[in-house]
Amino acid sequence: MSKDGNNSAAEFLPDRLDLTSLREAAAGCEGCDLYRAATRTVFGEGPAGAAFMLVGEQPGDQEDLQGHPFVGPAGRVLDRGLAEAGIEREDVYLTNAVKHFSFTRQGRRRIHQKPTAAEIGACQPWLNAELAVVEPQVVVVLGATAARALLGRAFRVTRQRGAPVPLGEATAVATIHPSAVLRAPDRDAAYEGFLADLKVAAGQRER
Ligand code: URA
Ligand code: SF4
Repeated sequence: MSKDGNNSAAEFLPDRLDLTSLREAAAGCEGCDLYRAATRTVFGEGPAGAAFMLVGEQPGDQEDLQGHPFVGPAGRVLDRGLAEAGIEREDVYLTNAVKHFSFTRQGRRRIHQKPTAAEIGACQPWLNAELAVVEPQVVVVLGATAARALLGRAFRVTRQRGAPVPLGEATAVATIHPSAVLRAPDRDAAYEGFLADLKVAAGQRER
């Protein structure tokens, strides 16, 4: 929480915007209450100047423990999709709309909880700064939370997925979240749709 009572990461942003200074500053972010129960900030990873920026929802249990984005089950779906769409890891900057794990406890388990609109808004300055520093050509929007942060609350992933839309200097392509592939009644069909959208994104790269 900031001094004026607004939930925002804004006051934690460093003066100098590069990936190293952003990562260091984000480690100490208290822009909303999620930092209290989570283990650590899970910041984006990848090179500045990456052609593709992929934006998920928030770190999950494994990401919170290990400190890296998309290292759990959803990450394995994503890795497979990227490989099959012909998107190289070295061309990817991987991040989340919200940088701390939101969960409820059920016994010893930590159950993923969707971040609220206020938490998405509070964390947005980090995402905006990452976009400004990385300057991706293509932004892959993974699921409704990332879509809300990047494309606005009227955007509907179910209806507008797989279609390129302008996002500043970049082109955005939305798809379902890789976790949704894992939860789908027909996983193979869900994965094929996910892969088709990633291929659209791959085709938006200019150089
Ligand atoms: N789900 C996400 O949205 N991001 C991660 O980093 C892991 C799972
Ligand atoms: Fe800061 Fe985002 Fe973590 Fe909230 S979720 S404390 S705004 S980094």
